[in-house]
Amino acid sequence: MEQYVIKGGNPLNGEVEIGGAKNAALAILAAAIMTDETVTIENLPNVRDINVLLQAIAEIGAMVDRIDAHTVKINGSFIKDVTVDNEFIRRIRASYYLIGALLGKYKKAEVALPGGCDIGSRPIDLHIKGFRAMGADVDIAHGLVIAEAEKLNGTHIYLDKVSVGATINIMMAASMAEGKTVIENAAKEPHVVDVANFLNSMGANIRGAGTDVIRIVGVEKLHKTEYSVIPDQIEAGTFMFAAAAAGGDVLVKDVIPKHLEATTAKLVEAGCKVEEFDDAVRIISDGKLHHTQVTTLPYPGFPTDLQSPLLAVLTTVPGISRIRENIFENRFKICSELTKMGAHIEVRGSEVKICGSRLKGCRLRAEELRGGAALVIAALAADGESVIEGVPFIRRGYEDICRDLRYLQAEIYMEDILSV
Ligand code: UD1
Repeated sequence: MEQYVIKGGNPLNGEVEIGGAKNAALAILAAAIMTDETVTIENLPNVRDINVLLQAIAEIGAMVDRIDAHTVKINGSFIKDVTVDNEFIRRIRASYYLIGALLGKYKKAEVALPGGCDIGSRPIDLHIKGFRAMGADVDIAHGLVIAEAEKLNGTHIYLDKVSVGATINIMMAASMAEGKTVIENAAKEPHVVDVANFLNSMGANIRGAGTDVIRIVGVEKLHKTEYSVIPDQIEAGTFMFAAAAAGGDVLVKDVIPKHLEATTAKLVEAGCKVEEFDDAVRIISDGKLHHTQVTTLPYPGFPTDLQSPLLAVLTTVPGISRIRENIFENRFKICSELTKMGAHIEVRGSEVKICGSRLKGCRLRAEELRGGAALVIAALAADGESVIEGVPFIRRGYEDICRDLRYLQAEIYMEDILSV
């Protein structure tokens, strides 16, 4: 069993390079099977969820050639099966993108119901509503989502809730439908734009990604492309919050500062100095921060995926801070772990009230990806040593957070307790 051992209280100093966006890459990998020509994808993050998806794509017959840790070539012409199911794919969320990709290309898909971190009920009714509106029959049986259509027709879809997953999934299927699809109340996240750019580079006709109305004119075929995934704004934000909590001077490289505006705004409000460059941001924190308030919202609002990292920071800041979580109903699970460290947090439904204090290191358990990253941040800021179990959750989305934090002079190492 892997665990992180962290000695807190050291400021972070130095540079960290940010990898490709996990959530963009997952959708792009699924979309890559929609052409019979070879697609090359660069700047792929080498994280668990990506490897699980690549394995599933290989299992249905596509050629998956991992050129190196961050580059893959995929050829979907060899696909012989539209049923995607294995014990690992059932645990990730992004498996749902294979429904849109296979349904768009082959008009049939049978994909294991998505899993993912336990942060709320996470239905996929909007995805299904979209596929049905395009003329597909969609059923759920034996743990699989089964979607089939004689042909897919362009249509008009209003999403009752802003959903990143539903927006991208419908966009993928609509790229190979007959006629024009309009998605209203679409998600505007940078990765929605990245997936649209990727599909367009394969010959799709998608306009308006990044606004709340996306228009897609279906094409018969998609073709080969070479594409580089955008930087991961959530990974970048995690290191920014780590620097804020521990104090120090950190240059976060290979990012798109515009995508980080909500994070930057909160850090400045809390008393950090943030400098923006073309493809980097520098955070300077004396570790003496001010309390603040935040509400999670779809992009360009403050991202739900950074709510737990910010929560960890605010537990260390004197005064009363408040957080409202608007996207997922079960995203305050780390509060009980932070309380073990001496944090004063009151959870009331979708809101928390935090009364900041110094934290003490202790044994902690990560139970989901971003909550796990938040525990790492809390441990970096705490007095004494912490041990964090549940490392595989953190590795779903961070290539090697331990290595990267060590570059920033943190005292952190990974221990495999079977080998000690
Ligand atoms: C994706 C991300 C996740 C991120 C989230 C919000 C992936 C693999 N995961 O998750 O990291 O936290 O976006 O940025 O990319 N909803 C419905 N019905 C649906 C779909 C969604 O009610 O059919 C609701 C959800 O319960 C949630 C909200 O819509 O309250 C937003 O969810 P969505 O944007 O779809 O998140 P995910 O795709 O699950």
